[in-house]
Amino acid sequence: MRLDRFLSNFPRFSRQDSRLLISAGRLRVDGAVIHDPRFDVRDFQRVELDDELLQAGRRAQYWMLNKPVGVVSATEHDEHRTVLDLLAEPDRHDLHLAGRLDLNTSGLLLITNDGRWSRRITQPQQRKPKVYLVDTEQPITAEYAEVFARGLYFAYEDLTTLPARLELLGSHSARLTLFEGRYHQVKRMFGHFRNRVVALHRESMGEIHLDPALAPGQYRPLTRAEIASV
Ligand code: URA
Repeated sequence: MRLDRFLSNFPRFSRQDSRLLISAGRLRVDGAVIHDPRFDVRDFQRVELDDELLQAGRRAQYWMLNKPVGVVSATEHDEHRTVLDLLAEPDRHDLHLAGRLDLNTSGLLLITNDGRWSRRITQPQQRKPKVYLVDTEQPITAEYAEVFARGLYFAYEDLTTLPARLELLGSHSARLTLFEGRYHQVKRMFGHFRNRVVALHRESMGEIHLDPALAPGQYRPLTRAEIASV
């Protein structure tokens, strides 16, 4: 957010006060005096007016978790353990999920406190590939790949899904690549063929692949390259 806007969000500063304070050199962001009212203040930066702290600097956090089946993708839940309960981080309640997985889906889940970053990876316009391993109750025929590549009509949302790629791995298993994330999308796509998904596992989102060293329930920080890939 622009520095002048950031300041005028405090009820005690008008837009004009904000500009005057900035031009008088009284604002510091991460220790540096800022004179430009258009300066872009990030959530994680420390902002001071003279000796008064207006926003404490926070550590940006980016984690990948191998979500186990039976743990809910939410930050709070009355019945089930949540994915945040799996993180032994003191400030975990500051975190949110960059995309969700169903209760009975396992695999890659990204968790962060950086809202801009998570919007970039989850917005459908970004067309980030999401790759899933799917096991089904009935055999998967060659027709599935054609239908998924054309797109399926979802009446509830009144939309046609973006072309998706299906690679058959066995008679009842496949790797599916989606470029969006609609509600229960994989199950609904196989549901079109009245074929129930019996296991679903996310392998990757964009350039970020689930680390094979992570057992279900384990997590690790993202690398710089993984963070920058989004
Ligand atoms: N599609 C589904 O149906 N479930 C998930 O958890 C993810 C994608």
